[in-house]
Order: sequence, then structure tokens, then C-alpha cells
Amino acid sequence: MKKYKRAITYGTFDLFHVGHLRLLKRIAALAEELYVVVSSDEFNSLKGKKCVIPFEERAEIIESLACVTKVLREDNWEQKISDVKNNHCDLFVMGDDWTGKFDFLKDYCDVIYLPRTPRISTTDIKNYIKN
Ligand code: CTP
Repeated sequence: MKKYKRAITYGTFDLFHVGHLRLLKRIAALAEELYVVVSSDEFNSLKGKKCVIPFEERAEIIESLACVTKVLREDNWEQKISDVKNNHCDLFVMGDDWTGKFDFLKDYCDVIYLPRTPRISTTDIKNYIKN
């Protein structure tokens, strides 16, 4: 029996890579269902990030993964509490580059930060192609 019923995680997932895949698989191993909230293009530009792949296509890729139950859209920093509550999530997970940043969600569900896969990121891929 899996420990949790429904996990939730957030990310941009631009230029989808194995670090993303491994994180999602590890979260899915902890819970019966996995909801993934993908940053919209508008939210990314608010954060000063520009995606290569548009939101609809990033969402389509995540949605098609066997380990993912459902994809939602992220439009602002504030929606996490209501997402967790409205979707009845009992686990919130992010990679450990975010350690401590979302501990305020501990009032609503368990919060864990999993180790990132070393030596790969969207930023590295972009830089590699550029140089
Ligand atoms: N992630 C991971 N291992 C990696 C890269 C990302 O576990 N090597 C995790 C992040 O910690 C996050 C999720 O994947 O929980 C989505 O991360 P995202 O920011 O979309 O990917 P990055 O490759 O980190 O992108 P960027 O370089 O633009 O920050």
C-alpha cells in the first residue's frame, strides 16, 4: 500500500529531461495519484523566465506520462494552499533546490524535498546548445 493518496508537485518542465522524469517517478512511488502543476508562460515571464516550449506542449508531455494522474496550471505564487486544499492532496513534493521554501504548506499536508538528479537542468541544456 502506498503511504499517500494524492501527491502534488510544481514546475516549469521546459525541455523535458531525465531529472524531471526521475523526480516524477519517485513522487509517484509514494502516492496513489500524482497531480503536476505546470507553470504557465505568463507566470514564467513574471518570474523572468522564458520557455522554449509553450505551456500547452509542456502540459501535453507531462499529461502523457504513465506516472502522472492529472496536470493543472500554475499562474501565481499564491495558489499552492488552495490547490492542496481543493484537490485534497496529502503530500507536497519538490526537488531539494527548494528545501524549506514551501514549509508553510505543512499546515495542510506533508511536505518533502527529494534530491535532484545531479548534472542536468533546463538551464544547462540551454547553455550547452548556445555555446
Ligand atoms: N529537478 C530534479 N532534478 C533535476 C532538475 C530538476 O529533481 N536535475 C526537479 C526540480 O527540483 C523541480 C522539478 O524538477 O522540483 C521541476 O524543475 P524545473 O525548474 O522545471 O527544472 P530545471 O531543470 O531545474 O529548470 P531550470 O534550470 O530552468 O531551473
